[in-house]
Amino acid sequence: MIQIGTVVNARKSLLRFEQVTPDPSWAFDYLKPSQTGYLTHSYHRYPAKFIPQLAQRLITTLSEPGEWVLDPFMGSGTTLVEAKLLGRPSVGVDINPVAYLVSRAKVTPIPPGYLREKVHRLLDAIRTGEEQLSLFSEEPQMPEYYPEPAEENVQDRIRYWFAEPVLTRLWHIHQAIEQEQDEAVLYFFRCAFSNILKPCSYWHNRSVKPTRDLNKQIPDPLVLLQMQLRKMMKGNEQYFNRLQVHHVLDIPAIPYCADARALPVEDGSISLIVTSPPYVTSYEYADLHQLTVLWYRYAQDLREFRPQFIGTAAVNGKEADAQSDLADQIVQQLAQRNRKKAAEVAIYFGEMRQCFTEMYRVLREGGRACIVIGNTAIGKVPILNAQVFVEQMEGMGFVLEDLILREIPSKILPTTRDSKTGKFARVDDADAHAYPHEYILILRKI
Ligand SMILES: C[S@@+](CC[C@H](N)C(=O)[O-])C[C@H]1O[C@@H](n2cnc3c(N)ncnc32)[C@H](O)[C@@H]1O
Repeated sequence: MIQIGTVVNARKSLLRFEQVTPDPSWAFDYLKPSQTGYLTHSYHRYPAKFIPQLAQRLITTLSEPGEWVLDPFMGSGTTLVEAKLLGRPSVGVDINPVAYLVSRAKVTPIPPGYLREKVHRLLDAIRTGEEQLSLFSEEPQMPEYYPEPAEENVQDRIRYWFAEPVLTRLWHIHQAIEQEQDEAVLYFFRCAFSNILKPCSYWHNRSVKPTRDLNKQIPDPLVLLQMQLRKMMKGNEQYFNRLQVHHVLDIPAIPYCADARALPVEDGSISLIVTSPPYVTSYEYADLHQLTVLWYRYAQDLREFRPQFIGTAAVNGKEADAQSDLADQIVQQLAQRNRKKAAEVAIYFGEMRQCFTEMYRVLREGGRACIVIGNTAIGKVPILNAQVFVEQMEGMGFVLEDLILREIPSKILPTTRDSKTGKFARVDDADAHAYPHEYILILRKI
């Protein structure tokens, strides 16, 4: 049962939203891409990445070295990298196997000389393989693209995205990579390979969403891979050296491919959570990462993959109770205009509540959860994510300790949405503001 005191607290907290003004010290608008993509942070593209310096500031001010940090929506592992650099052991969780792949590569320092040797050998093996291919057949035979026979729909989708000759070359690279025995190096190579899939495919260069451009000039995959590896080796070397200088090379940073609604983490073991949750009906992560998902066969069928993500439009058959008056009001308003969207938002808030319950369980008493989230709108209905989250979290025993409003520099997030669908849109075809501001909610477990 919800206590009266909790309701009063929630009301007070909601009032704070009306009074808060942007804090320029959290905008980080002076940072150049080379600074936000420093060390291993630019290994792989990932939508709605954290600014590392934001995670760094939260970790430094709200935890002590040696205390465990968690990111239950780890994405590309920004929080884990920053926690390790600051001497805090960390755990990250994401339902997306691509997030796991990228994070695992990003958090793992590899001795630079050893890695250089490995890269050298890999490139040699690929070149030798390609020479043999051109010696023995003028018209290269289409290889089997997968070690085991692949299902029709996976094959078809791969062929939808890649030209046949490119596919042949990618396959040779893939085979050479998969010979690698050292797991740390294998993940480093796979991460590099995953990041070149998009430029090697028909995927429109300037679109985050899956759109084909059949006139696209496709670069040579091997040339791209070399450039990618060179960039990543530089990042690894700087990361490795910095960890070594600060004596934190062995601090654990453990990524999991798991669900934030069932965290693989012990009760009361975490001191600080730093995370940015998914948004409702904005990105379909299952679709955005489909090239890697298909290549590594992380899913047989995207239709079964999509519903696992919180914020997806694929909500048929799902049930989840938001336990928030504000969420109910938003859903009712939406239902008058668009029942489908109303159902998606209701499930989103319900599933986010399940995540907050898990966060509460794994935090120690006095531990804090920092949630970075913006508000949005679908049609004319404001989707007050931040206020709903606070209401939900205070209802389960968190107190809102601090509320920070930050401006989002436009180069980092798309700031416009299509007003009918709520999806991110290109600036020139959008008609509703997304979130030029976002909140940092700092809640303490009491
Ligand atoms: C805004 S992104 C996080 C980006 C991250 N802060 C970074 O710096 O890369 C939200 C993440 O939530 C993940 N996600 C969605 N549903 C999830 C679930 N049920 N469990 C865990 N992660 C989930 C998505 O895959 C996505 O990576």
